[in-house]
Order: sequence, then C-alpha cells, then structure tokens
Amino acid sequence: TAPELIRNFCIIAHIDHGKSTLADRMLQLTGVVQPRDARAQYLDRMDIERERGITIKSQAVRMPWQLGEEPYALNMIDTPGHVDFTYEVSRSLAACEGAVLLVDAAQGIEAQTLANLYLAMEHDLEIIPVLNKIDLPAAQPEKYAAELAGLVGGEPEDVLRVSGKTGEGVEELLDRIVHRVPAPVGDPDAPARAMIFDSVYDTYRGVVTYVRAVDGDLNPRERIQMMSTKATHELLEIGVISPEAIKTNGLGVGEVGYLITGVKDVRQSKVGDTVTAANNPAEKPLGGYEDPKPMVFSGLYPIDGSDYPTLRDALDKLKLNDAALNYEPETSVALGFGFRVGFLGLLHLEIVRERLEREFDLDLISTAPNVVYDVTMEDGTEVKVTNPSEFPGGRIKDVREPIVKATVLTPSEFVGAVMGLCTDRRGQLDGMDYLSEDRVELRWTLPLAEIVFDFFDALKSRTRGYASLDYEPSGDQAADLVKVDILLQGDQVDAFSAIVHKDAAYEYGVKMTAKLKEIIPRQQFEVPIQAAVGARIIARETVRAIRKDVLAKCYGGDISRKRKLLEKQKEGKKRMKNIGSVEVPKEAFISALSSD
Ligand code: GTP
Repeated sequence: TAPELIRNFCIIAHIDHGKSTLADRMLQLTGVVQPRDARAQYLDRMDIERERGITIKSQAVRMPWQLGEEPYALNMIDTPGHVDFTYEVSRSLAACEGAVLLVDAAQGIEAQTLANLYLAMEHDLEIIPVLNKIDLPAAQPEKYAAELAGLVGGEPEDVLRVSGKTGEGVEELLDRIVHRVPAPVGDPDAPARAMIFDSVYDTYRGVVTYVRAVDGDLNPRERIQMMSTKATHELLEIGVISPEAIKTNGLGVGEVGYLITGVKDVRQSKVGDTVTAANNPAEKPLGGYEDPKPMVFSGLYPIDGSDYPTLRDALDKLKLNDAALNYEPETSVALGFGFRVGFLGLLHLEIVRERLEREFDLDLISTAPNVVYDVTMEDGTEVKVTNPSEFPGGRIKDVREPIVKATVLTPSEFVGAVMGLCTDRRGQLDGMDYLSEDRVELRWTLPLAEIVFDFFDALKSRTRGYASLDYEPSGDQAADLVKVDILLQGDQVDAFSAIVHKDAAYEYGVKMTAKLKEIIPRQQFEVPIQAAVGARIIARETVRAIRKDVLAKCYGGDISRKRKLLEKQKEGKKRMKNIGSVEVPKEAFISALSSD
C-alpha cells in the first residue's frame, strides 16, 4: 500500500475503559472478522491477560477502510496499559502517527491514561479524544468532554462520543482516524530500516517479530540484520496480521507487519531494535532502543525442594517470551535452593509468579520484593545490591536508591489524605493541578522502595478506591539507608534481612521479631529473636522453652499407639528447617514472609 493510504494508530485507555470491546467492534465494522467468529477480546491472546483484564504484549492488526473512493489501510497497534511496561508502551507509540485517547464517559481520565497521553504527546502523535460507553445511564459526556478538551486542546463538542458495545459512533471514529492521523513518511529508496515494537515466542513458529517499516523495504527470503547486535538471520516469512497472519511479498514505507526468522528466543529480536537488510545495511539505527532494566527483585523458592529443577526449566521457558525477565540461582538458609529474579515492577512479578504456578504447577514462596541499591564503600569500591542479605558491612560512603516520578489523580476531597501518605513515604511534591473543579493531579518524586510493597493498597484505602497512580523511573538519590538483620539465637535468617530508611529500622525490627515470636514453635531451650543493625541490637523477643513430651498423653501401655505418636513426631521433624540449633517449620517462613 502507498504510504498516503496508510494510517497507523493506537488506542490509549485505562484498564476497563473498553479498549478491547472497541477494537473488536472496529474489526467487525471493517470486515476483518465476521460477527459470528468475533471472539471476545481478539487482541488479548493469553488467558491470564483475559482473566486479569490487562494487555501485556502489544500486537498489530491491519484493517481495510473505504473513505470516498480511496481504500485505506488502518493499522491498529495494541499498547500495553500498565506502568511496568512503559518502555514497551513507548515503542508501540513510536510505531504510530496517531492515538485514540479512549475514556470511559462515566469515569473520566485516570492517572495511567494521563501518563500514556503525555508519552504520546512527547512522540508528537495526533491525539483523537473519544468518550466511550455513552450508552451507560451513568455517563456524563458533557463533564468529561470538557476535561478532555482541556487536556488535549480543541472544543468539547469535537470530542467524539461512542459505544463499543452498541457500535454507535464507531464508523465516525474510523473516518476521523483517516482524516486526522497523518500518513507515514519515509524514504523508499534508502536502505531498509524497520523498528521492532514487539516480539512474541510461538511454540510452533519460534519468535514472531512485529515491526513498523520506516525506510526502504524488507523482502521475503533476504537476510536481515539486527542493528544492536549485528546478528544476521534469514527472513523466512514476512506479512501482515488481519486478523490471522497473511504472507505478503514485503513491507514498505509506513507498513506494519510481522516477520519470522527461526530464532527461538525473544532476546535475539529485541523490542526497540532496528532491522535492516544484511546486504545493504542502513548506517544508523532508529532512535530509542534500550535494554529492559529490572527494577524490582524477589527470591523465588519452591515450597517443595524437589521442584527446584522444574522451577529452573519453567523460568528458562518463560524467558523465551519475556526479554525483561532475568534470574540467577541463589540459596537461602531459611528457604533452600531458589532464584533471585529481576522484574520490571510489581505487576510483572505477579504475572510471572502466577504463570509459574499455573502453567508449570509449582508452589512457590516469594521473598518481600526489594529494589536495587548502589553502595559505594569508603575505599571507592562499588557494590550493586539486589538481595538485602548481601548488603555489605564495613565502611560505607554512600547508598543510592532508585526514585520515580509518580502521578496521582484524586477527587479533591482526598488531597489531604494523599499528601499524608506520600509524605510518610518520603515523597516530595513536585506540583499540583486541577483537571476540573473536583479532580486533582498531584505529581510526586518518591523512592521506588516506598511504593513497591503496599503503597497502592494504602492509596486505595485512604481514598475509598478513587485515586489512581502511575509512575516512571527517574534515576536515583542518596539516602540514609541501613540493613536490618533478624537473628534466631544469634544466627542470621537471610530471608528476613531488609534495607530500610534509618528512621524506619526500629519499627521494622519490632514488627518482624513480634511476628516471628508468634509462629516459631517452642523448643527444648529458650530462643532469642533479635533485630540488629550491624552489631547493634534494636529489638528482641523470646520464645520460651518447653519440654515436649509426646508420650505424656499415653498413660497405659499401648505400645503401638506410642509408636505411632513417635512416628508422627518424626514426620513433623522432616518439614523443619534448622537455623543453627533452632528448628523452624517452613510454613512459619511462608507466613512470616506474606504481607499482613
Ligand atoms: P483491558 O483489556 O482490561 O484493558 O480492558 P479494556 O479497556 O479492553 O476493557 P474491555 O473492552 O474488556 O471492557 C471492560 C468492560 O466494559 C467490559 O465489561 C465491557 O463489557 C464493558 N464495556 C466496554 N465497552 C462498553 C460500552 O461501550 N458500553 C458499556 N455499557 N459497556 C462497555
């Protein structure tokens, strides 16, 4: 297709504002899927996504649309909606010239949508504001049209009103996309350059790579080169998705489609990388490529130690489809053999964990998530700490922690509550704007460590569920951080070490020692539980001694019953872990590690 007849766009929307329903409706109206095989939510492939109602992997569909005499090709590029995937969002936006900003007419815009809108504006996309679900009785199109017009410019009357459910207004939206979104520009005679905006592992076909052609063209059966690594591959197949894969004889300027090279691992076909022709390579890659950087780490351990090899194989398999996942074996005194795994954020952690448990039938313990610290020692050595128990002792010059820029949207009555929470979490207010008279946008700088654990829940409960949050990484800062160790009878229990702000150390120590006292069974001797910063003890609890005599219950001489009880006691012992001379059931660690 000639570039003048191509329109590349994405839909920016908050979870549940109806993106999938609208996308389905567009596929039907353009004849790409027949109503009878319109599966619910065509674009979301993995069932885990469907259940959680989120889109993780972006993909693209090509739809024909006739306007006047001209047959246009509309490429709809799916963007992931969650904060953990900002980089992937930014790559899929970079593949488009326009964005439909879709907002639930009964809810108004949310923080995540706002963040993605700003990202789209930075990429100079043409923004088409649209209110969805206007069939709902609770819809307030007048109010939210004014809000949207205030954000993106233009008049409230020009904000389109649609219903993905009934189909109302969707044809007008397709027309408007043709009118408003600019056609792609590129140099057809230059060496080929195409940007990878997604890459997905398929069991049968290997890695399927989604690209947006910028200059020149890519043709079937030529050799292609990945510009970040210079690796070359044979192009086995190239085509477009509409809605299934359709082979074409190439992709030219502005076109969006897929390619298959036979590689088996998504890391050989990286999101953001530039594909060029091996026999006539471009000089410079397209901008914007970054390696995915894990921000949050957690230890993953099988509850049953004999599942360790299964866990390793499962992680290897998931990695084929998730370039951002990385892990290293680690052992813990308390938990045995496992892995330290790096994630993009908390949602990424939850998704990976859930897939491991569901698809590979594993029962896992995960340690409390932590961020990465950069420690500089007085002698100048630098240490990167991804596991709190490895925090160096000795003379530390400074510790740096990652920070984020966070956006909170809240009804104005909760501004005070949000301020209180963010201040408690060492936040700094950068700015505040009223979107309308009763909705406020607050911008904060916060340590990532303060929001990885329970920040979102706390925010929701203090605002009765009304506030929304988005954040993006924003470098690091020096902070007064210390490691708190937990000791059982003088032995350090690695899984409970935490790096916390100096002012919060005492609280953490008291909380953990109290919690452990509850769950550690009494032993034959007294067991002190201590919290320490370096050599200094900051909290202490004691588990008192007992003499456990299981036979006391058996008066009389029934020997077989006695034997049974002794057997049972032995069974119990097998599930115990020894920390020094203290026996602790594994379940105790599990319940101590789960958040309250
Ligand atoms: P994610 O895939 O989770 O990002 O959600 P989504 O934004 O794709 O939302 P989805 O299309 O799954 O719709 C969310 C809910 O809103 C579903 O229960 C839909 O049935 C409902 N919904 C979507 N569009 C409309 C609409 O136009 N009107 C009404 N009344 N309900 C709608």
